[in-house]
Amino acid sequence: MKFFIDTANLEEIKEAHSLGILAGVTTNPSLVAKEGVDFHERLREITKLVSGSVSAEVIAEDAAGMIEEGKELAAIAPNITVKVPMTLEGLKAVRTFSDLNIKTNVTLIFSANQALLAARAGATYVSPFLGRLDDIGHDGLDLITTISELFYLHNIDTEIIAASIRHPQHVTESALRGAHIATIPFNVIKQLAKHPLTDQGIEKFLTDWKNTTTS
Ligand code: E4P
Repeated sequence: MKFFIDTANLEEIKEAHSLGILAGVTTNPSLVAKEGVDFHERLREITKLVSGSVSAEVIAEDAAGMIEEGKELAAIAPNITVKVPMTLEGLKAVRTFSDLNIKTNVTLIFSANQALLAARAGATYVSPFLGRLDDIGHDGLDLITTISELFYLHNIDTEIIAASIRHPQHVTESALRGAHIATIPFNVIKQLAKHPLTDQGIEKFLTDWKNTTTS
């Protein structure tokens, strides 16, 4: 499973990139709004830093509007992936983008049927939202298992991005259940690297080293 970062914050992207683990970036309108920057300019900056897929979401709600916006976004850089919401209009737009060889990430996926439809419309990626399903008492991870099995059974090559990740266990379980990618907020990426026994181990090594070298 590959790691994407789920943010529009440049410092977080730089920091995650410097770890050598970053395969891509996902943004959404809420994440961009939080930054208070020009959307296209920020995308230009991100695509210069990261060579992997950078998802940029359309705002229009009708297919024609999504297609127009998506074409503009795709023109920013070759690694832009147009993020399209999972609606009937979105499916029409995904089909058009697929025919134009523009990559798409179908977002706000909450059921297996939505994922199947998106894949058949030609989506490059589907993004099931784990955390938001958990929030309403469903099991987001079960959806990853189901989509993963369905795509395997039917030889579908659309990649599954585990999204709305809230904690490290979401990451491990998404990998076990067959997600190709997890898009992860920076605070959770940092948590993945931490273990109290690692910290204790470093402290002990350093103490022992100091005691030896000073005696
Ligand atoms: C993914 O592409 C979405 O931007 C994101 O994972 C949504 O996460 P949230 O539910 O924490 O807002």
